Amino acid sequence: MSSVVVPVIAIDGPSASGKGTVAALVARELGFHYLDSGAIYRVTAYAAQRAALALDDEPALVVLARQIELRFDGVEVFLNGVAVGDVVRTEEAGRAASQIAALPELRAALLQRQRDFRQAPGLVTDGRDMGSVVFPDATVKIFLTASAEERAQRRYKQLIEKGFDASLAALLQDLRERDARDAARSSAPLRQTADAELLDTTSLTIAQAVEQVLQWFRVAKATL
Ligand code: DC
Repeated sequence: MSSVVVPVIAIDGPSASGKGTVAALVARELGFHYLDSGAIYRVTAYAAQRAALALDDEPALVVLARQIELRFDGVEVFLNGVAVGDVVRTEEAGRAASQIAALPELRAALLQRQRDFRQAPGLVTDGRDMGSVVFPDATVKIFLTASAEERAQRRYKQLIEKGFDASLAALLQDLRERDARDAARSSAPLRQTADAELLDTTSLTIAQAVEQVLQWFRVAKATL
């Protein structure tokens, strides 16, 4: 099957909006592949820190991004064969990812890696520029968001449940800073494109959000 006809559901949105949870459930429901593109930035930033590279050393980061071997297996992510899911999903790793994600050459170096995930029978992916840059011809584009307060609450609950220490105020401030950086960068900024459906999940359950995405996909598929 040519990659042109493989359907893609692109879900973009700010940090901790729940887009990853929704995307993974939609993928499971449809039997599609799932790509957490944020994990690619997180793993790359982690690899850079391990290699003692400065997070603004663009040429060195580009070389590194081309060298690393990155693999997903379910929710686990492997860097050069080593499971790094836990270390790259911390708040600090998210901040580092957001920093390197502002570099255009680095983004370009990671582009094909992301496009390679488009495989039959379909792909559900989440990030910041899945619909605008990586898969501009996606079957459905969704901008999934929630208020900053609600997102901070959700992240807080998640961390507490995992047994981590967390401060709601610090999380809220961190989310706002990350949103601002992801939206202000000149390369592939976080934004809702004109062709993306807006899904505000502030007062929706996960199941309702998943159902809405599936519904948009069914409609889009019928008009293909
Ligand atoms: O989705 P996430 O929180 O795991 O992403 C971590 C950082 O990576 C985020 O702050 C910005 C960056 N990112 C990006 O620039 N483009 C993407 N498609 C995904 C993530």
